[in-house]
Amino acid sequence: MNDPLVKNGEELLTTGTAAEGEITSAPETALDPGATPEETPIISLRKVSKTYNAGTAKEVKVLKGINLDIYPGEVVVLVGPSGCGKSTLLRSMNLIAPPDTGSITFKGKTWSNSQIDFFDFKARKAEAQALAQWRMSMGMVFQSFNLFPHKTVLQNAMIGPLRARNINRDQAERLARAGLKKVGMDQKADFFPSALSGGQKQRVAIARALAMEPDVMLFDEATSALDPELRIDILEEMKQLAAEGMTMIVVTHELAFAREVGSRVIFMESGQIAEDGPAKETIDNPTHPRFIEFLRALHH
Ligand SMILES: Nc1ncnc2c1ncn2[C@@H]1O[C@H](COP(=O)(O)OP(=O)(O)OP(=O)(O)O)[C@@H](O)[C@H]1O
Ligand SMILES: [Mg+2]
Repeated sequence: MNDPLVKNGEELLTTGTAAEGEITSAPETALDPGATPEETPIISLRKVSKTYNAGTAKEVKVLKGINLDIYPGEVVVLVGPSGCGKSTLLRSMNLIAPPDTGSITFKGKTWSNSQIDFFDFKARKAEAQALAQWRMSMGMVFQSFNLFPHKTVLQNAMIGPLRARNINRDQAERLARAGLKKVGMDQKADFFPSALSGGQKQRVAIARALAMEPDVMLFDEATSALDPELRIDILEEMKQLAAEGMTMIVVTHELAFAREVGSRVIFMESGQIAEDGPAKETIDNPTHPRFIEFLRALHH
């Protein structure tokens, strides 16, 4: 990786606390031999907790012992009041902001927060590679698009694939162009982000994640910075991805999208999962008093 710009890209894509932890492959026996592939979760969280500023006056317990299984092909809509921990949960899952305690299993590999010896460079290198692989397989799209202004659309979409080992420039370009084509941005490959609308920038951000051929896509309020017409555009793009079978976790306030496209809805409150059920039925008949209140407030 000699390209200094790509190195910057790495830094941008992996902002947040450096993970100290351990990723281990699951023993074969961990899988229920009777389970079909559909019945095996692609992501499992067990007792995941995270506290910011622990031990100080500013201490906030953000995630409080989350247990969660996500199955392949699910479109999970994550809702809840501001500050309840939705973004932190997504950032914990892809280990940008690793949990303090608990474990996360993703595609048969388990991460847990055991400290790696700082001077064990071999272990640290292996860990960094495992982390990069983990994050690439979980594409993330944020509210702010985070595109590099000095790079073209194509170069922005190539950042991810170029970071992967064993991928040369031609292959990276092919993956990037495939991602751009998928979101209808292949005609704009040579444009700079400043020449694009907000909706187009967000399409490029989605293409950049798709270029890494992820198994899961995480969307954190991907449409909330956009004007209404552009918002519908991006929601359509997300609907298309869902229809193709992509596993998705979507933080959004768009209830119509949640009911129509979501297979499951999770209502979070104060760092815990308060309600979890089939999207349409649960939104139409919520049971948790805080969820009822939350939905009522959204309707007004
Ligand atoms: N890096 C950080 N340092 C300290 N506190 C943080 C940090 N990131 C988040 N928090 C705190 O953790 C809590 C949960 O934040 P988070 O961003 O996960 O909430 P959210 O549900 O995504 O809210 P919103 O709907 O407003 O986006 C908040 O109280 C927030 O202030
Ligand atoms: Mg948030």
